[in-house]
Amino acid sequence: MNYENVQSAHLKGITTITINRPKKLNALNKATIQELHDAFDEANKDKATKVIIITGSGDKAFVAGADISEFADFDVKEGSKLSAQGQDLLFDFVENLNTPVIAAVNGFALGGGLELAMACHFRVASTNAKMGLPETSLGVIPGYGGTQRLPQLVGKGRAMEMVMTAGMIDAEQALNYGLVNHVVEQDELLPLAEKIASKIMRNSSVAIGKAIKAINANYKDGKDGYKVEIKQFGKCFGTEDFVEGTTAFLEKRKAEFPGE
Ligand code: COA
Repeated sequence: MNYENVQSAHLKGITTITINRPKKLNALNKATIQELHDAFDEANKDKATKVIIITGSGDKAFVAGADISEFADFDVKEGSKLSAQGQDLLFDFVENLNTPVIAAVNGFALGGGLELAMACHFRVASTNAKMGLPETSLGVIPGYGGTQRLPQLVGKGRAMEMVMTAGMIDAEQALNYGLVNHVVEQDELLPLAEKIASKIMRNSSVAIGKAIKAINANYKDGKDGYKVEIKQFGKCFGTEDFVEGTTAFLEKRKAEFPGE
């Protein structure tokens, strides 16, 4: 598929999605959110894609937030709709994909940008990255899941401080907070994400999809994560990947997972 603000490229099991509005620091306007939904959906349905990496174009920004120019004149109803539609189309959608999604945070990840990175399954960052939820400085609150996912990742007190001060933290502090898993120089960022992706790809993609479901269940209201784990664990026993994984182990050879 052809996109205007997003590039999607596949190589050896990895689909890299790049948000491409560098003049606006990759800010998420409505069209970009829709294109990102389509690009993620396409990659997730592609059997050859085992891992998705999302990053921003240029060397300055991952995403500098939701596009402020698009919502500055919104009323209460439009504001609620913006948040609900965005969560549905992109942020919750990404979090619940079967395919692992790594955010490669290559610069500013602010507001909706940090919220997008937090909706991904985990994050790596470059040394120049700066992260924050500056919404209260605009008279609004994070609306793409930030008030929920930031405390899940860094703890309530740190999330409260970040949201109330509207300040930015640097990559080192983000690492310290557990917001990102690794920090490297900018030119090493994609190679690092690809290296982690290739480790992930050695394992059963079917099992990984079920693990994502079970882990996510811990953060969903009204769900008993242990019960979800039991169900997903049981389901693994009916997969070809399970037969191959256990057989290969017993035969002392490397598993070749069919992904079924
Ligand atoms: N929405 C819309 N446009 C944005 C944007 C956003 N969230 N973030 C950056 N841009 C645009 C700027 O308006 C500017 O456009 P212009 O050249 O047409 O004037 C362009 O991107 C470059 O940004 P600029 O502010 O000139 O870069 P900078 O290096 O001086 O500052 C930031 C970088 C990230 C500190 C600054 O752009 C910023 O604070 N952005 C908004 C962050 C924010 O509040 N996000 C949360 C939104 S809810």
